Amino acid sequence: MCGIIGYTGYRNTKTVLLNCLKRLEYRGYDSAGISINNEKSKIETIKAVGEIKILEKKAESFSANGPSGIGHSRWATHGAVTEENAHPHTSCHQEIAIIHNGIIENFKSLQEKLTQKGHIFKSNTDSEILAHLIEEHYEKTTDLKKAVEKTIQEITGSYALVAMTDKEPEKLIAARKDSPLVIGVGDNENFIASDVPAFLPYTKRVIFLEEGDIAEITKTKIQLYQSDGSKKEHEINHVTWNIEDAEKSGFTHYMLKEIYDQPESIQEALRGRISDFDYSISFPDAVEELLSQPFESVSIVACGTSYYAALLGKYLLESLTSLPVSVTYSSEYRFFGKNYAHSLVVAITQSGETLDTLAALKEARKNGASTLAITNIIGSSATRIADAYLLMQSGPEIGVAATKTFTSQIVLMALLSLCLSLRYDKIGADDFHHHVQQLKQIPRNIRKIFDTIDEIKHVAKKLSTAYSAFFIGRGLWYPLAREGALKLKEISYIHAEGFPAGELKHGPFALLTKETPVVAILHKGITYDKMLANIGEIKARGPSVIAIAEDDDEDIEKYADHVLRYPTDGEIECLIPATVILQLLSYYTALYRDCPIDKPRNLAKSVTVE
Ligand code: G6P
Repeated sequence: MCGIIGYTGYRNTKTVLLNCLKRLEYRGYDSAGISINNEKSKIETIKAVGEIKILEKKAESFSANGPSGIGHSRWATHGAVTEENAHPHTSCHQEIAIIHNGIIENFKSLQEKLTQKGHIFKSNTDSEILAHLIEEHYEKTTDLKKAVEKTIQEITGSYALVAMTDKEPEKLIAARKDSPLVIGVGDNENFIASDVPAFLPYTKRVIFLEEGDIAEITKTKIQLYQSDGSKKEHEINHVTWNIEDAEKSGFTHYMLKEIYDQPESIQEALRGRISDFDYSISFPDAVEELLSQPFESVSIVACGTSYYAALLGKYLLESLTSLPVSVTYSSEYRFFGKNYAHSLVVAITQSGETLDTLAALKEARKNGASTLAITNIIGSSATRIADAYLLMQSGPEIGVAATKTFTSQIVLMALLSLCLSLRYDKIGADDFHHHVQQLKQIPRNIRKIFDTIDEIKHVAKKLSTAYSAFFIGRGLWYPLAREGALKLKEISYIHAEGFPAGELKHGPFALLTKETPVVAILHKGITYDKMLANIGEIKARGPSVIAIAEDDDEDIEKYADHVLRYPTDGEIECLIPATVILQLLSYYTALYRDCPIDKPRNLAKSVTVE
């Protein structure tokens, strides 16, 4: 959740830290700060509540430059949003500074001990304990790495931690457990961050730290250690994202850019997985090996938007494979999830770092299930925990509200379902080939949605005055209704709920008035007539109905007040173009309401706390 950056090198450290912090803003934050080992070998720290630009302004009068520095953008979990609680935290004598992401569970008892020894605490955070513990150990060892090693032996909880001291001004020591850290490898400079986009303008060479790793970083050397102190070899990966990928490319918001990225991101999700020769589906070896087991059931775990991709996955898997599939919020599964014999547990997580999903994955593994992670981030914790992983290949998603990664999750769930369907002999070769061929048409159909943008804007303008809205669908379209409602509420702050269309009459009907628009998402499949009947019942109670329907659906005109259309195709293939309409509808509704679309209040892109 919090953003972490450390730098040691030849550039102006303050400028680098502030630039990198700005690139981490999308993770969500409420305050930020930097500490620099200055030219006089003293640590100077500056912090501010609010946006990074406030910190930047404040830092204009902060001349500190020096061989190393650390920066942090905080999303409060422990202690109020104040300057004192913002990171970096420093030790009593300002000789140690630390930044931390995670939770130190035993900080209270440690704090009591250290207070008795004379340590004075300045904040109400669990993280500050790290600066004091390192200070204690440094006095005895005069070696920052050893002091960090000893510190992490004393703490329980989770951490991505970077520490520095004015006694070893060119050095940063980093350690991780249950929270991501990645080193950016430069020439005569090195970086350490919570995620890659932070240092992308400076380097594309990265080393992903693994659980329990400790890293010693100077501008010319990187040495990794295992938790027992033994040296460890590292591998340098080259990330292919360029700076433009991570920037807005002229769009007003990252979210809009990411919606428009979808023809390409869908192509990427399909890339390398469908043979041009015979349309067969193939996955990386580890996934193929995993899927070769004879599963009797599937459980899917996820949070937020990924949960709705999981719900869709259930409909797809059940209809194409006949396997029983359960879908559980990760935060519930980790405590109450049941593993059945011969079951596959699939975790869907864009970031690969959502703490509840990682806990659910660990629980599944502990109970003997085979595990597959579907994620966008190579090297993320989910890829390390699961037996195998499938990458969405969507490129970085910066907007807090997930868009292109959701549609790639749908693509991967469709591929997985088709692949298992064939293995379990549940689909004929013709149907299989037809579906695979149609999946390849999705990018073209998304582009057609972009041609209807004026109609979508027109409807969004009307929706933007609503106080509350409902979204309905049936079967495969029900998860889309849930996702459509989530998207609207998170970025436009309009209260919205998604329901299976048949359920409205069991409660939500009581809330229907002329002022509560209903978005109905439908397809001319087996539930079409029922959907029309539901829309009729809704209309009789006053709301205006916005239908999202196929191009050739003429009947819908008689029922709905507004119709937004997607190209007619098979049901599975239509899901994504219809999703794009929902995304654009939310986006423009939020735009007309002047909302901070990329950074909705109280939300964060990656939730690495409970
Ligand atoms: C946060 C984000 C959502 C996302 C959810 C799950 O709440 O704001 O957009 O869907 O986390 O994230 P994951 O990375 O696990 O898919």
